[in-house]
Amino acid sequence: MCNIVVGGQFGDEGKGKIISYMCLKDNYDIIARGGVGPNAGHTIVHNGQEYKVRQIPSGFLNKNTKLYIGAGVLINPDVFLDEISKFNKFNIKERIKVDFQCGIIEETHRVRDKGDENLREKVQTTGSGCGPANEDRIKRVGKLARDIPALNEFLCDVAMEMNDAIDEGKKILIEGTQGFGLSLYHGTYPYVTTKDTTASAMLSDVGVGPKCVNDVIVVLKAYTTRVGNGLFWNEMDKNKKEKADNKSGKLLDELKISEKLSKIEEKGTVTGRARRVAPFDFELAKRSAKINSATMLALTNLDRLFDCAGVRKFNDLPEDAKKFIKIIENEVGVKVKLISTGREYSDTIDLR
Ligand code: IMP
Ligand code: MG
Repeated sequence: MCNIVVGGQFGDEGKGKIISYMCLKDNYDIIARGGVGPNAGHTIVHNGQEYKVRQIPSGFLNKNTKLYIGAGVLINPDVFLDEISKFNKFNIKERIKVDFQCGIIEETHRVRDKGDENLREKVQTTGSGCGPANEDRIKRVGKLARDIPALNEFLCDVAMEMNDAIDEGKKILIEGTQGFGLSLYHGTYPYVTTKDTTASAMLSDVGVGPKCVNDVIVVLKAYTTRVGNGLFWNEMDKNKKEKADNKSGKLLDELKISEKLSKIEEKGTVTGRARRVAPFDFELAKRSAKINSATMLALTNLDRLFDCAGVRKFNDLPEDAKKFIKIIENEVGVKVKLISTGREYSDTIDLR
């Protein structure tokens, strides 16, 4: 059995929170991380303690789960080793494996990322060196994990281990990073990251084929946020904008959401930069659900718009929140099966 979790907006949808809930609830044998690399930060809250990960899989809370990083992912060895020692109490060292073909971020990549005017000022990258490292990888001059002695003890053939585990009937979760709108192919180019970010890309990152997939869970925040430059989707095209504005505008007026949105302040996990905030974008959600082949949606941060902090049963939600969820399901055409009502992993409504 193999499930995939991906971001449906611009990253920071709360994938870390959803994955930490699923890893404890569903008991996966393996959780594998795909995506670009340490430009992504996931925040996990477990019994009041906050953990931020940029390199190791967010599913680390469950000590019975093996943790893998797929070949498509870039590794910054310093960040990787630091996270392993920081979260030592979870025995990460004993159960984490890195594909021998993962790309490596070197100091020069970070210098290039931060020093390039186009990347720094126009694209406003995270400065973590991911773009230049992928550039070198594409030029076939990049370093790989197998070239780094400090990573030697963690190396394995992640792709084959994953496929063997699937053949043996084990339970696998593939965790995506970033979000649909940041995809190099399908996102808001040129304000994007340096790879595709859809479910197909995550499969390719870890080396698993499409026939193995059971559920694709697209995570959506109850509003839209973006860190760094680039348009929100509904600003891209005038027709789309009018359609999206009318729909969300009417709904937002009805549910009095605009006022709450104006009070939301968030900061990026990796960069600490303020996130830009906009209403839920139905066009973006629909498009990302389609292109990801979503089988279910996970809706996060519902408590920021409605009075429902910590609610764990659908029937205990306020009527307006229920209405909002139904409208999303109708517009996007996919059921909302997981609802997050707080930062703690257990503040979750599970309708699966
Ligand atoms: P890069 O991936 O560091 O090259 O940055 C390219 C763009 O993607 C910038 O706008 C970043 O802020 C954004 N970005 C990359 N990774 C993430 C993420 O995990 N969450 C949110 N934004 C991201
Ligand atoms: Mg993040």
